[in-house]
Amino acid sequence: MNKNCYWVLFLIVLLPVYSVCSHATEKESMQTVIEKALEHANNQSLILAKNVTALPGKLPKSIKNGKLETSSSDWWCSGFFPGTLWYLYEYSDDEEIGKYATLLTERIEKEQYNKNTHDLGFMLYCSYGNALRLTGKKVYKSILINGAKSLSTRYNPVVGCIRSWDFNKDKWQYPVIIDNMMNLEYLMWAYKETGDERFKTISVNHANKTMENQFRANYSCYHVISYSPETGKVMVKGTHQGYSDESAWSRGQAWALYGYSMMYRETKNEKYLVQAKCIADFILNHPRLPKDKIPYWDFDVPEIPNVLRDASAGAIIASALIEMSQFVDKDTAKRYLDVVETQIRTLASPDYTAAIGTNEGFILKHSVGYFLAGSEVDAPLTYADYYYVEALLRYKKYILNN
Ligand code: GLY
Repeated sequence: MNKNCYWVLFLIVLLPVYSVCSHATEKESMQTVIEKALEHANNQSLILAKNVTALPGKLPKSIKNGKLETSSSDWWCSGFFPGTLWYLYEYSDDEEIGKYATLLTERIEKEQYNKNTHDLGFMLYCSYGNALRLTGKKVYKSILINGAKSLSTRYNPVVGCIRSWDFNKDKWQYPVIIDNMMNLEYLMWAYKETGDERFKTISVNHANKTMENQFRANYSCYHVISYSPETGKVMVKGTHQGYSDESAWSRGQAWALYGYSMMYRETKNEKYLVQAKCIADFILNHPRLPKDKIPYWDFDVPEIPNVLRDASAGAIIASALIEMSQFVDKDTAKRYLDVVETQIRTLASPDYTAAIGTNEGFILKHSVGYFLAGSEVDAPLTYADYYYVEALLRYKKYILNN
């Protein structure tokens, strides 16, 4: 064979083989990962939306015994799926998604008068809050303001916090859980909308009291603090959904991170950003945070690494870190965004993202609701999907489009 023949052989046979192989090992750009993940979320959520809309009054919850599990509107998670649909509508402008978002949001209407739960932020602000932001419909505003008033009835000025739960009264006289930080965004919205200072006072007092009492010296947090409603004194520090009273329940750390980042955004009070940064350091420097940055369901389960992950904690942390990257210096932002990139790539991979038409239409697999009660263990959860889609949109808006 002469020299030219070798060249022809190289061009015809070896070059295409080389280019296919090198392409296969090349990492997709974050732009591609995000676009594909949003497109996938849109298509998958349409399936769940169709199925759940056929069940009057119901909203999706998880999968139980291999079947779609639903709830009525008073379950604390009722607002997440309508909220996910609103985020996807914002992304795709898909009229069908918008139709289901409206329909399912309006199933939650009566919760505006619910005074038995602190979860109205999740239930109403994720659903009606996004609906109002994207449609401007006036009736949504009055529903939201009524809901914020209902939530405010759970505030005790002696304690300086919103009461979380009404159950287990023998154990907890006035329980406040770290998750409750997530309601403050709703009350800050109500303050800006109505000018009623009371909404802001409740939010700020709650955030301050929680900062004072709910954290350990290493900035991990307790799940539950119970106060005396008469004196405001701390009576009990412990957990409900974590591994133990002194453990760091992963979703609790995620709520704390998100909550203080959000309170900094809303008030511009530096001390909330300092708190959020310390919480981020606890999570990101933790020796038991896995390489792919999706936490085990609790940082302190002795059987780690043979322990389930919680995708919901990963999604909440990712969304919070993207927001925080906008508030901190360049090096810190890069440190946060490197973690976020790993989290998003992990969650968007087939390890966590369900194939279209599987997983009953939920986007993500592998979350943990309440491990020790055997409830929602290694299951899809509506809030994992909500904060995952929020993180994808935040990444697109703040990082890719900047
Ligand atoms: N707010 C309850 C939970 O995070 O499971």
